[in-house]
Amino acid sequence: MSRPPSNHHLKEDIRDYWSKRSETFDLAFGHRIPPGPELDAWADAVRQRLGSEPLKVLELASGTGEVSNVLLSLGHDVTGLDFSEAMIGVARRKHAGRAGVRFILADAEQTMEPDGTYDAVVCRHLVWTLTEPQQAFAEWFRVLKPGGRLLIFDGNWAAPTPLGRIVSGAIKLIDRVAGVDPYYDGAMSDRHADIMRRLPFGEGLTVERLMPLLGAAGFKEIEVGSHAPIAAAQRETADLRNRLRTLLYRRFILSCRRPEDGA
Ligand SMILES: C[S@@+](CC[C@H](N)C(=O)[O-])C[C@H]1O[C@@H](n2cnc3c(N)ncnc32)[C@H](O)[C@@H]1O
Repeated sequence: MSRPPSNHHLKEDIRDYWSKRSETFDLAFGHRIPPGPELDAWADAVRQRLGSEPLKVLELASGTGEVSNVLLSLGHDVTGLDFSEAMIGVARRKHAGRAGVRFILADAEQTMEPDGTYDAVVCRHLVWTLTEPQQAFAEWFRVLKPGGRLLIFDGNWAAPTPLGRIVSGAIKLIDRVAGVDPYYDGAMSDRHADIMRRLPFGEGLTVERLMPLLGAAGFKEIEVGSHAPIAAAQRETADLRNRLRTLLYRRFILSCRRPEDGA
């Protein structure tokens, strides 16, 4: 009898955690990307790195389909992939009847997609929760066309920045006065912390940790950009507590390229 991989239980726990959050995920600050300054800022961030031509994009961990919407707004053809059936269900409902998008149930670390298929692979808030990062990066390299781009939006959620530590005190104070926001990421914090502890990037995802792993997978032209314009756009419409939340963690945008064959 074949044995499940050693990370089987961890993956199941991750899938179950996100499935349980699928219906309320968009209510947690920072997840939904509303039309207006925030959608514009996300679209700018993607356009600057992927260009303006319509591309065939694989969006990994597409969740409720918010980043899919950014990609669609730029005219890309989008295949959203997620391993949570519940998340896929929310995304399919949200984008029902829309052309140029489909959602598939699969593991981002082993997509089962054919070699050299996509012009770009995009993911937001997936890399920190990978159980086999090295395997995942090799997989993403494989499904990209030569010359294709990988675009990662992520952050170090394990520890707030020095400013974030001060800010988190103010957020706790607001929680005490206004009541805790039930949808924010901390809402299932015991389970979140238990999963975090078991992850390869459990001590924090940083560009310093990430870049050598991407290089080892064959990626070149690794560029790290700032998330600040997106955070600034979020602050335009957010209430005080959420404005403070944009200051908690170090976020980054990383792009890199699968080199042309023979390059
Ligand atoms: C923090 S949510 C982010 C969702 C979406 N990318 C966004 O930013 O709105 C994490 C998502 O990653 C998915 N996920 C985590 N590990 C995965 C894996 N190995 N394969 C596919 N999906 C995965 C979860 O099901 C969940 O939808």
